[in-house]
Amino acid sequence: MARSVNTKIVIIGCGISGISAAHRLVKAGFNDVRILEATSRSGGRIKTGRLGNKIVEIGANWIHGPCEENPVFCLARQYRLLDPEALTPENQAMDIGGHPPWTPNFFGSSGGKLNAEDIYPAQQMFLELLNESSEFQGQKGEPWSCVGDFIRSEVQQRAEEQWKDIDATSRSLRLCVISNMLKVECCVNGAHSMDEVSLGAFGLYKTLPGNDCTFPGGYEGLIKNLMSELPSGLVTYNRPVRCVHWNNTEERGNPVMVECDDGERIAADHVICTVPLGYLRKHHSTLFHPPLPLHKLCSVQRLGFGTNNKIFVEFDAPWWDADCEIIYLVWEDEDAMVDEVPDVQRSWIKKLFGFTVLKPTERYGHVLCGWIAGHESEYMETLSEQEVTQAVTQLVRRFTGNPTVTPKRVFRSQWFHDPWTCGSYTHPGKGCSEQDLDNMMEPLPSKGSQSQPLQVLFAGEATHPCYFSTVHGAVLTGWREADRLISHYSSVRPFELRKSKL
Ligand SMILES: Cc1cc2nc3c(=O)[nH]c(=O)nc-3n(C[C@H](O)[C@H](O)[C@H](O)COP(=O)(O)OP(=O)(O)OC[C@H]3O[C@@H](n4cnc5c(N)ncnc54)[C@H](O)[C@@H]3O)c2cc1C
Ligand SMILES: *[C@@H]1O[C@H](CO)[C@@H](O)[C@H](O)[C@H]1NC(C)=O
Ligand SMILES: *[C@@H]1O[C@H](CO)[C@@H](O)[C@H](O)[C@H]1NC(C)=O
Repeated sequence: MARSVNTKIVIIGCGISGISAAHRLVKAGFNDVRILEATSRSGGRIKTGRLGNKIVEIGANWIHGPCEENPVFCLARQYRLLDPEALTPENQAMDIGGHPPWTPNFFGSSGGKLNAEDIYPAQQMFLELLNESSEFQGQKGEPWSCVGDFIRSEVQQRAEEQWKDIDATSRSLRLCVISNMLKVECCVNGAHSMDEVSLGAFGLYKTLPGNDCTFPGGYEGLIKNLMSELPSGLVTYNRPVRCVHWNNTEERGNPVMVECDDGERIAADHVICTVPLGYLRKHHSTLFHPPLPLHKLCSVQRLGFGTNNKIFVEFDAPWWDADCEIIYLVWEDEDAMVDEVPDVQRSWIKKLFGFTVLKPTERYGHVLCGWIAGHESEYMETLSEQEVTQAVTQLVRRFTGNPTVTPKRVFRSQWFHDPWTCGSYTHPGKGCSEQDLDNMMEPLPSKGSQSQPLQVLFAGEATHPCYFSTVHGAVLTGWREADRLISHYSSVRPFELRKSKL
């Protein structure tokens, strides 16, 4: 009898990483696998909602880099969840380096559209600097500790050289555009400010080829399809785990005991923990007994986990161009290259960089998705929907110069106050290195221990060395930890076979 048949495996969290791990283990013949999920649903940060009768993504929206190497793309194709355009070889081959070639509209805070030609030099310079920011990874001696400082100092220097012949007003506008682009990057990174993102580790994040695509029927279709292939009853919902008691050294019994909020205790040989980094940062001291080893704990704290939220806004008629795919709102008083708002309570909305346009229009009508990161975003979550609507209305009226534009419907996400997520996703915080991600994925007990190996394993977005913050990263970590257990048991099997022959 293969050892795997009786092996008890508990997976904490029914997000895409937990589901992926369960999938692989069940396929490999492990038949005592269960998932404990705190909430009443599967999917975690993959969460499809509705605005009126339209599908909107409260969490993940795109397949970043949809190509053959991307497991999310391959699964979505297999389940027939994608538009034909996303399946074309041209779409898969397009290398966008993390920046989709969307058609922009720029609006200024004095009211009205800005001329794209006035903006492009600043945008071009910013993109070059982002590119260069990635190049310090693995090198020693980066000039600044954070991406924000690097970009500000380089823009200052390069503006001296390259923009010396332009007038003061145009120059000031370009610096305001830099502020706007910094806010965009805060959303991309899920960081409060680019001053909190490590310059030395910025290049750890890798992109895949392929032009980002969405799920026309909602990202949760992927979850539904995967769940339908798991044995029913494998997931227990509304079952938050309070504490993982590991390193049980009693002669008999299992090495791990999972204690739930309702007091239930579940014995396990292995636990795969997939809770979000935000949750782990907040609850590590009660979630593990004995506590996490110091080096792992330091990495949990050093890696960054911030907030990025969406504000969906529906209009009766568009105030943007028909071909526009992204709207940038440039504050003309922000030439100090800032991505933080000084008076959060009064001016939090200045952190919202702009909107992406939900396409195609035939499917969505006139719906925009606003993006806001950081503490300003966390403050926004505490306001009523009515207060948010009022702020967005004022903002749009100001930037269009049209005092009558009125949103029809508004709906926002609240990821920071989600008690099981505590933010949005992972970025390399200041002082971070590759080692921190290695520490994140290291199982307990640590190498060199005499105790039973692989008691607690770690999966989830925050444990992927180069695809952290993404759905494909999360899938790959679930598979990785399942494979770690599968190969552990397949390497003991020949020994057992030999023994039985004697
Ligand atoms: C606003 C937003 C936009 C995003 N956009 C994209 C995008 O466009 N493309 C992309 O690739 N990625 C995107 N992401 C990131 C992507 O959603 C995540 O990386 C991915 O879904 C994480 O999966 P996971 O399994 O690691 O974690 P999660 O999905 O967070 O799953 C963890 C699960 O653990 C549960 N849990 C927590 N604590 C406990 C406990 N104590 N006991 C039991 N269960 C517990 C939670 O309820 C949750 O279900 C976005 C995320 C956000 C928030
Ligand atoms: C950034 O680098 C990539 C490849 O390294 C290149 O294709 C792209 O054109 C660069 N972008 C800018 C704005 O320099
Ligand atoms: C695990 O148990 C062993 C044996 O009792 C002990 O030596 C070791 O320190 C324990 N490890 C931790 C992290 O508590």
